[in-house]
Amino acid sequence: MRKAKILTTGMYVPDCVVTNDLLAQAMDTSDEWITQRTGIKERRMVPDTYHMLQQLAHAPDKEAYLKALYETGMQGKIDAEMSTADLALRATQVALTQANMTAQDLDLIIQTSVVPDYVFPGVACVLADKLGLTSTPTFSLNQGCAGFIYALSLADQYIKTGTYETILVVGAELLSSIFLYSNRGRDMSVLFADGAGAAIVVPASPEEPSGMMSHHLHTDGTLLGKLYAELFGTTTFPPMVKKKIDDDRSRPRMEGRAVFAQAVRRFREVVRECLEANKVSIDEVDHFLFHQANVRILESVSESLNIPAAKVPVNIHKYGNTSAASVPILLHETLQEGRIKRGDLCLLAAFGTGFNWGASLLRW
Ligand SMILES: CC(C)(COP(=O)(O)OP(=O)(O)OC[C@H]1O[C@@H](n2cnc3c(N)ncnc32)[C@H](O)[C@@H]1OP(=O)(O)O)[C@@H](O)C(=O)NCCC(=O)NCCS
Repeated sequence: MRKAKILTTGMYVPDCVVTNDLLAQAMDTSDEWITQRTGIKERRMVPDTYHMLQQLAHAPDKEAYLKALYETGMQGKIDAEMSTADLALRATQVALTQANMTAQDLDLIIQTSVVPDYVFPGVACVLADKLGLTSTPTFSLNQGCAGFIYALSLADQYIKTGTYETILVVGAELLSSIFLYSNRGRDMSVLFADGAGAAIVVPASPEEPSGMMSHHLHTDGTLLGKLYAELFGTTTFPPMVKKKIDDDRSRPRMEGRAVFAQAVRRFREVVRECLEANKVSIDEVDHFLFHQANVRILESVSESLNIPAAKVPVNIHKYGNTSAASVPILLHETLQEGRIKRGDLCLLAAFGTGFNWGASLLRW
């Protein structure tokens, strides 16, 4: 059976830099608290959130500012400047340019995000519109921070079976749109941010070593209450009832310590599972490209598995947690820095809401 490989990658993050200090002007938090517990120094956010944070930072009555925001939008304006699909589009354009391709060359798009543009259709359809595609198949996954691993595993199957030749896998997140930038929401809003990462997956020629080797996917639905967002979901009737906002049920929720413990445990398990399935040792892997949720999670996993820090690239200090975009952004940056060489063994792993987690092993 033929193998699939990643031909090129792309990424996009908005220009607006949100520092810990800016967040500390909007709510009760500090650069020290955020840095010590997460390793995040700054993150990128779309202009709408950035401008909102600037106004919030200087608002004499922050509660009143936020109340007005949720009642009338930003000074009466409710149309967003950028949507999830806009972020996906920009990362896709980088990957296409690197591959010397146009959107017309794509046979399939697999897109993954937590927060969609619309309830329906999925972000993949909106992206197809922006790319000017009129019959290329697309689908959207919502597998949280593990979305890119899930999407990559699907692309691999379609290439292996010969169904498609050129597949776009893109993770895009506009997370800053759903968090509450106040003391009530500070446990989560300091962690998450916006961005997108893309990969173009094609068949590897039989003589080349490059290619995907295996994927290992898991879900534990019994713990979904530890990390979730009701937002416009059908857990309330009607889904968009004002009382949902008044009762504080539209805000994402997380039990930080429980998530931390699960993340460390599941990362460890799935890395071991992936290595054992391929009869590969830690020493033989050149790069461990882990979802960037928290630098302490990365350190804890690396220490317990004896993975040298030099093999674990980190960019969370610049971007925060970009969920499904995190792994492809990290892959793209690590490639751009020239750290990944032809023939290197790369283990990609991610964990997030669901809980969903997974790992992929591939030779570059
Ligand atoms: C969220 C997280 C950073 C919190 O760190 P922690 O060490 O568990 O936090 P602590 O228990 O020491 O501190 C909690 C205290 O800080 C406060 N706090 C929460 N967010 C805060 C913030 N942004 N700034 C300042 N204080 C904050 C809490 O109110 C609480 O105060 P209290 O003790 O007076 O009740 C940590 O649990 C974590 O990273 N979890 C994993 C989250 C994650 O990665 N999720 C995504 C997975 S894909």
